[in-house]
Amino acid sequence: MMSSGAGMKDGRFITLGIETSCDETAAAVTADGRDVLSNVISSQIDVHEVFGGVVPEIAARHHLTQINAVLDAALSQAGIGWGEIDLVGATCGPGLVGAVLIGLSTAKALALSTGRPLSAVHHVKGHVCASYLENPQLAPPHLALVVSGGHTDIIDVRSYTEYILLGQTRDDAVGEAFDKVARVLGLGYPGGPKVDELAKRGNPSAVAFKRVLLGDGSLDFSFSGIKTGVLNHVNTERQAGREINTADIAASFQASVTEVIAEKTRVALRETGHKKLTMGGGVAANSMLRARVAEVCAEEGAAFYVPAPALCTDNAAMIACAAYYKYQAEGATPPDIDASAGLPL
Ligand code: KG4
Ligand code: ZN
Repeated sequence: MMSSGAGMKDGRFITLGIETSCDETAAAVTADGRDVLSNVISSQIDVHEVFGGVVPEIAARHHLTQINAVLDAALSQAGIGWGEIDLVGATCGPGLVGAVLIGLSTAKALALSTGRPLSAVHHVKGHVCASYLENPQLAPPHLALVVSGGHTDIIDVRSYTEYILLGQTRDDAVGEAFDKVARVLGLGYPGGPKVDELAKRGNPSAVAFKRVLLGDGSLDFSFSGIKTGVLNHVNTERQAGREINTADIAASFQASVTEVIAEKTRVALRETGHKKLTMGGGVAANSMLRARVAEVCAEEGAAFYVPAPALCTDNAAMIACAAYYKYQAEGATPPDIDASAGLPL
């Protein structure tokens, strides 16, 4: 269990956020939307590791057993009592529907029992809001890049609640590609951080994996082919009796996807004229991607905001922040809101 921060209400607007869309059971308390008073995460990585990926049923059951303790820790670390909460926020999708349901149902029950409003938010909007947590002055409009296990989105953020999707993946999300390549290389789950570490010892120019830019002027992505590319390369080398340098392969794969994302981002900055870019989602923790996108922003004269790695991956502080802004603009979410596996942006 990970946590950070401590504070008190002091007349500020307190949001409790809950996130359970995948394999992290998370609760956080923020003041005035973006001041993080606590951010508690209970990870299920060890539970799913033996299966090589997240098992939806098991994830949902674990959320159920962990959620109360995670909530208690979030409140006590923030120094906030149940009666001091002004708003209950939760992810309502997209994600594993059984997993989302646990957090959302808990939020509904808490809203009902405390008499406070509910604000149910889109998980990807949470990843965008993660950049607000560390940058008190940052505000829309700006461009946002969300790169995670489920999404690869380029978004024109017009206001705190107005999101226009400019590009997305047509097949696998970039995080899925990292996880699949890690499996091919025998690195285990979750693959992203392991590829990142191994790539630091490899040569990014060793293997020229294809950079799929789609060539149609769109800001969409395609990452399904690169896994096959890596698999074919590994098989060819093995059949030829050559030794496989996994660090070189990891670095070359990472360089390929990094370049595609960086170049699409450059085009999006030019097309929209935005001078601010935020990056979020689990893959935003990747060291090469952070460095390369920072370079592109510098070249394009745009300010670049990317949270610390712990706020890039799933957490509830970003959900509390998104819930706060949605509530400010649109009011409470009706209590009959459903969990949705494929909620559109
Ligand atoms: O945002 P996230 O925690 O969950 C989703 O909303 O999907 O992202 C998880 C994804 C996984 O695919 C994981 O392998 C990837 O983020 N990831 C990374 C790194 N850390 C996490 N990928 C590349 N490099 C990393 N350092
Ligand atoms: Zn996520």
